[in-house]
Amino acid sequence: MSSQLLEGKRGIIFGALDSNSIAWKVAENAHAYGAKFVLTNAPVAMRMGEINKLAEATSSEIIPADATSTEDLENLFTKAEEILGGKLDFVLHSIGMSVNVRKGRHYTNLNYDWLEKGWDVSAVSFHKVMQTAWKLDSMNEWGSIVALTYMAAQRTFPDYNDMADNKAYLESIARNFGYHFGTKKKVRVNTISQSPTMTTAGSGVKGFDGFIRFAEKTSPLGNASAQECADYVITLFSDLTRKVTLQNLFHDGGFSNMGISDAVMEQFMANEE
Ligand SMILES: NC(=O)c1ccc[n+]([C@@H]2O[C@H](COP(=O)([O-])OP(=O)(O)OC[C@H]3O[C@@H](n4cnc5c(N)ncnc54)[C@H](O)[C@@H]3O)[C@@H](O)[C@H]2O)c1
Repeated sequence: MSSQLLEGKRGIIFGALDSNSIAWKVAENAHAYGAKFVLTNAPVAMRMGEINKLAEATSSEIIPADATSTEDLENLFTKAEEILGGKLDFVLHSIGMSVNVRKGRHYTNLNYDWLEKGWDVSAVSFHKVMQTAWKLDSMNEWGSIVALTYMAAQRTFPDYNDMADNKAYLESIARNFGYHFGTKKKVRVNTISQSPTMTTAGSGVKGFDGFIRFAEKTSPLGNASAQECADYVITLFSDLTRKVTLQNLFHDGGFSNMGISDAVMEQFMANEE
């Protein structure tokens, strides 16, 4: 990783909780590729203290912000521009949480207060992040805004619960805000639809271990790791992808276009002649 693909670029990275987090790997990568950035997470996540190690390793500052609070976001974007010495070239939204998933509520018996909380954190926060950047005019032309999503937005994965609906909403926000950001400010907005990945958010999903093995056996290239996702994110932050926008980009080893693989079939053929 000696290339300085992101030399001179400034950004904000949301969502690094611990060293398994996809955002953590993106931060390490962005640093290695020459970018400067501010790290942020919800004040409650700061208590774990892990993010301090990442800040030290990447020479970056931390500004706590609850991504559902427009006040916190305004403070974050204003301070980030001051610290980094100019407008921003990239933003990573790597945030997800469902109270219904956490508390094991079935999709047919959702608690709607919890649904609203999870929707705000996982989907509407992306609009709030972009609206804040829009109003403060924080983005440089040809900047790049990326959010992480999952294919349950398009296809049914029962245990993904209300997060499936949150991801559909998130992807829609990317297209709709992406239109305005592209037209008025030449900023691109995309979502990356990542393979199931062993992180705090990922492993909260019921039956995740089994599902991750199924996805691994179905995908021609196998599941994409958090590190591989971070590599892909760097390409989207770089100038090599300037005309890619309004896209939901599958980064899943080919899973999303598969029906069934030989490896999965073998498990069902085992008892046949
Ligand atoms: N792990 C997977 O299998 C997988 C697959 C596809 C997409 N994703 C998506 O990737 C993104 C990152 O998740 P991850 O897997 O790295 O897990 P993670 O648990 O490491 O990251 C989720 C982050 O969201 C943050 N967060 C929660 N509430 C917040 C709030 N109110 N304000 C600000 N931040 C808040 C958490 O503190 C945490 O850092 C999420 O959008 C997730 O849905 C994950």
